[in-house]
Amino acid sequence: MSETNTLQTPTWTSRWTFIMATTGAAVGLGNIWKFPYIAGENGGGAFVLMYLGCILLLGVPIMIAETMLGRKGRENPVHAMLKHARSVDASKAWSFIGIMGVAAGIMILMYYSVVAGWALEYVFQSATSSYIGKPSADIAEGFSTLSADTGRQLMWHSIFMAGTALIVALGVTKGIGKAVNILMPMLFLLLLMLLGYAYENGEFSQALSFMFTADFSKLTGDVVLIAMGHAFFTLSLGMGTVMVYGSYMPQNASIPSAIITVAFLDTLIALVAGMTIFPLVFASGLEPASGPGLLFKTLPIAFSTMWNGAFFGAGFFLLVAIAALSSSISLIEPGIAWLEKLGVNRIAAALGLALFCWLGGVASIYTTEVFDKLDYITANIMLPLGGLLIAVFVGWKLGFTRSRKEISEISGGLFNLWFVVIRFIAPLGVLIIFAKSLGLI
Ligand code: PFF
Repeated sequence: MSETNTLQTPTWTSRWTFIMATTGAAVGLGNIWKFPYIAGENGGGAFVLMYLGCILLLGVPIMIAETMLGRKGRENPVHAMLKHARSVDASKAWSFIGIMGVAAGIMILMYYSVVAGWALEYVFQSATSSYIGKPSADIAEGFSTLSADTGRQLMWHSIFMAGTALIVALGVTKGIGKAVNILMPMLFLLLLMLLGYAYENGEFSQALSFMFTADFSKLTGDVVLIAMGHAFFTLSLGMGTVMVYGSYMPQNASIPSAIITVAFLDTLIALVAGMTIFPLVFASGLEPASGPGLLFKTLPIAFSTMWNGAFFGAGFFLLVAIAALSSSISLIEPGIAWLEKLGVNRIAAALGLALFCWLGGVASIYTTEVFDKLDYITANIMLPLGGLLIAVFVGWKLGFTRSRKEISEISGGLFNLWFVVIRFIAPLGVLIIFAKSLGLI
């Protein structure tokens, strides 16, 4: 393939494919694994409310801005930002948004792949019925055994990273659009089925009040920061993924309605995951604040007594792993697209970056501190900072008229509202939350 061909920006076959691919990027471990356990660790209701507020007030408007920068730039995030900066006579330093995004994607993948590996382990354990019929305490203990078994984690992490590298090396638009169109509805159906199971067999009302009764005394600066960080993480926001996917968007597709659909589906899936997991947590006497192992302890306990639990368990964890895969590809894609633009062949770029992420994953397996730090720094600092810079660039540099030309399909009133949020409210919101978490206010 000639260089020009390689660098031609592909286009999704339809607006729907953009929605499914972006939903595939958004819906991942963040919704099914991370949301329930960080909501559990941070007191439930007040956290959930803050998270929903951040999605609505910061997430959706910034996501619209990031998609717009992608569709208008039609390049990887670094070069798209260079192009935009040049077109408005702004500093080349704005490309930092893209560079930080590429770095954040790589850093997230360094622990994300390890968690996806846990899901693969539970596919295996389900399929071989290894936890079926065991006492709940033993099943919960099983996760601790896995956490201490570095060799086994290494094996699954390597398999998951190899899968990610392979798909990215083959090219994203070809396979992924089709795959997500089938897999996302399947994931949703399975989650609904488990929701029904949790409703029948779990402590549903206790879970509902845990998730939706807000005790604001629990809202410290750090909890608010974590809620905001999670809003960015779950939407895959502020790090160039949405920009790259936006660059493949057909020019005539409506950005706001597509983004609202993605954000709605992503939030719905997180809430359904919470309403599935917490009833089972309470019914099995586990602690909602039991940390990263929450999903891997509760669901096997539920499946262990469930009709055809081994089969449904394997299916469920497989879908968790697949949801993680459609996200992991989107985590590495900004870096690949950038390297490709710099002249590196796609296969070499995929192998090189995947190897780098794999090494980071090895460090996460051996040291939980690395795992925790990668998660904290990316979600709570890098992504919101990326989002803040995107909002400032669009609000203050690109400006009203250029943005209006890109987003012409919504009414003037709605557009004005969005622009006010992007120019003033979103940057201020992120800054206030940063300041609060640092104890400055
Ligand atoms: N949104 C994904 C999730 O919730 O699991 C994680 C993620 C994917 C974050 C892609 C950032 C990203 F660019």
